[in-house]
Amino acid sequence: MNILGIETSCDETAAAVVKDGTKILANVVASSAEMHAVTGGIIPENAARQQIKSIIPVISSTLEKAKIKKEEIDAIAVTYGPGLIGSLLVGIETAKTLSILWHKPIIPVNHLSAHIYANWLNTEKPPRFPALALVVSGGHTDLVIMKSHEQLNWIGGTKDDAAGEAFDKTARLLGLPYPGGPEISAQAEKYISENPDIKMSFFPRPIIHEKNYDWSFSGLKTAVLNEVKNKKLNKEEKQKIAAEVQEAIVDVLIKKTLRALVEYKPKSVLLAGGVAANTRLKNKFKSAINKNFPNIELFVPSPELCTDNAAYIASHSFYHNNPVPWQDINADPQLTITSEF
Ligand code: KG4
Ligand code: ZN
Repeated sequence: MNILGIETSCDETAAAVVKDGTKILANVVASSAEMHAVTGGIIPENAARQQIKSIIPVISSTLEKAKIKKEEIDAIAVTYGPGLIGSLLVGIETAKTLSILWHKPIIPVNHLSAHIYANWLNTEKPPRFPALALVVSGGHTDLVIMKSHEQLNWIGGTKDDAAGEAFDKTARLLGLPYPGGPEISAQAEKYISENPDIKMSFFPRPIIHEKNYDWSFSGLKTAVLNEVKNKKLNKEEKQKIAAEVQEAIVDVLIKKTLRALVEYKPKSVLLAGGVAANTRLKNKFKSAINKNFPNIELFVPSPELCTDNAAYIASHSFYHNNPVPWQDINADPQLTITSEF
């Protein structure tokens, strides 16, 4: 079954064709990051205007790369939330129009649950259930237990800012370019490679000892602000702060996730969302799981599948193949990970 996925929830304009939920035939992402770098962050209207320009060329190029005709597409999957309202509407209205023109069913997809499906793409051995998924993106930080494709239980998440936001805001405070996460990661890696034995414990690890599965990152942002304000930092000092803040974020994410492994005893742990592209997070997770839970398999998608793309949208819709009449699809900017369509 070939599904055309469409994803426009934030600043990317993405389309993909995925066969049987796992095999990527084409995956095209047009990013407007360069434009947002000029403004130091995303201005929603600018993002949507760019997506209006990009959506048709992106879909055409996806079909061309997949070497597939529209007749060979079995369904169209589209993100309906959460996200920026103007951006979501570009994808949704395009998907509806194609569905009517091409006579194809349309499947609305929850962007957050879909992130997890990057772990089903291009893999010979899919994750086994029950699985524990940590979804860490720019706007969300959630921990969910998946007993099956249909049974997804949210067990905790951030009480305020998302982990990705903590990366992005720190980058901004350090005067590093947008998008902040990859930039903090690059600066931190330089610091760690030059100081391999250094212990990093400068910033607080908010609510790390609370016996729950929640996080809080807003205080960390304030701690960085207090550290950098009114100071002229040199390159090395910026690298140190990047490494320290990354370590604090990684430590709290890992600590709470390992706690959940003890309680829920899953067979697989799945990382998902843009922050899962972080090398330090991936490496520290790997060694913690190998050391403490050798029977649990860790899945981390390749970096380009962690960040927003339409391949995991198409994959999710293969496993939740619930088409709806196009008239019933509306954008839902505030959707959470448990509220399915
Ligand atoms: O999942 P995603 O692409 O979009 C949302 O759904 O939000 O996540 C974007 C977030 C941004 O905060 C970005 O800075 C962060 O993922 N990110 C990273 C890295 N790559 C992307 N954070 C840390 N290290 C990275 N390598
Ligand atoms: Zn995302």
